[in-house]
Amino acid sequence: MHKNSIWITGCNGKMGSELMKLLKGNTDYRVVGTSLDVDVTDEHAVEQAIDLYMPQIVINCAGVSDAAYCEKHQLEAYKVNALGARNLAMASRRKNARIIHFSSDDVFSGEHNRPKTEFDNPTPRTVYGKSKLAGENFVRELNPKHLIIRSSWVYGLEEKAESPSGFYQQVIDHGLKGEAFTAPIDVIGTPTSVLELGRFFMKILKSNEYGIFHASCEGGCTRYGYARAVLELNGLDTNLVSETLQEKDGLLVSTQLENLMMKMTGIYEMPQWKDAMRAYVEQNRIGGK
Ligand SMILES: NC(=O)c1ccc[n+]([C@@H]2O[C@H](COP(=O)([O-])OP(=O)(O)OC[C@H]3O[C@@H](n4cnc5c(N)ncnc54)[C@H](OP(=O)(O)O)[C@@H]3O)[C@@H](O)[C@H]2O)c1
Repeated sequence: MHKNSIWITGCNGKMGSELMKLLKGNTDYRVVGTSLDVDVTDEHAVEQAIDLYMPQIVINCAGVSDAAYCEKHQLEAYKVNALGARNLAMASRRKNARIIHFSSDDVFSGEHNRPKTEFDNPTPRTVYGKSKLAGENFVRELNPKHLIIRSSWVYGLEEKAESPSGFYQQVIDHGLKGEAFTAPIDVIGTPTSVLELGRFFMKILKSNEYGIFHASCEGGCTRYGYARAVLELNGLDTNLVSETLQEKDGLLVSTQLENLMMKMTGIYEMPQWKDAMRAYVEQNRIGGK
């Protein structure tokens, strides 16, 4: 049995593919990635896979992360985000393996315009947020060797523009086509580069930390501010985006996270979101102006 054997689920997604890249090039680890070939909602398939791969660490990047899709497909959302997490938590516990589970800022309702710490009580209001919290709870209850990483507005290379969670890529597409579009000014969060999340992840992977960690870039902005920054930093026309309101009741929704555990343990320091985006753009230049 290899000392640092890792199984990554959801390995073709934004997070999963970045972690595969980071870990495959690292000789300290032997990594196997699965996607829909091991359906995490199928308890038997998960049990078979863990017997085959014998990992010391299971990293769960499988999920349904499109919030609007989750509203319309509640059963599927809970099946993948909650039951899938449960199956992986049970299987990893049976093998005495550590589980690292990716979760979301959407476990918070968005009320109160202040960043939420790991010690704030989650009160999700969407199906996506509720299903992610249910997944977290299964992981916490079923495997004591757990690490739950909550992040927000993650953008990265494997982003699909057709998915609403692929906001960064949608903005690029509008910019390249010269198409006008709108973005909300009443929704606040923190764009987080998958590169920074990956760097934090490598630090925590090598540590003995357990529990819940928030991991988003520092600072925050509206969706509109996010869109403007993507256009500006990629040399595209910032006038293409105009302001809109998303919430019907006039409330401000803020799911900004405070990385309190990260700061207390000193494990990593996340950069300001716009600095991280600038660095991401440098690495992934598109053909703007
Ligand atoms: N993106 C964000 O802004 C963000 C922020 C915070 C937290 N998260 C969480 O982080 C995790 C990873 O996010 P991501 O952005 O990498 O998502 P993603 O790009 O949508 O990737 C999710 C992956 O899970 C796979 N998957 C879906 N159903 C599955 C099933 N039943 N069995 C096995 N694999 C399945 C998908 O496969 P297909 O592509 O083939 O469907 C996809 O490769 C998710 O749990 C998400 O909730 C994401």
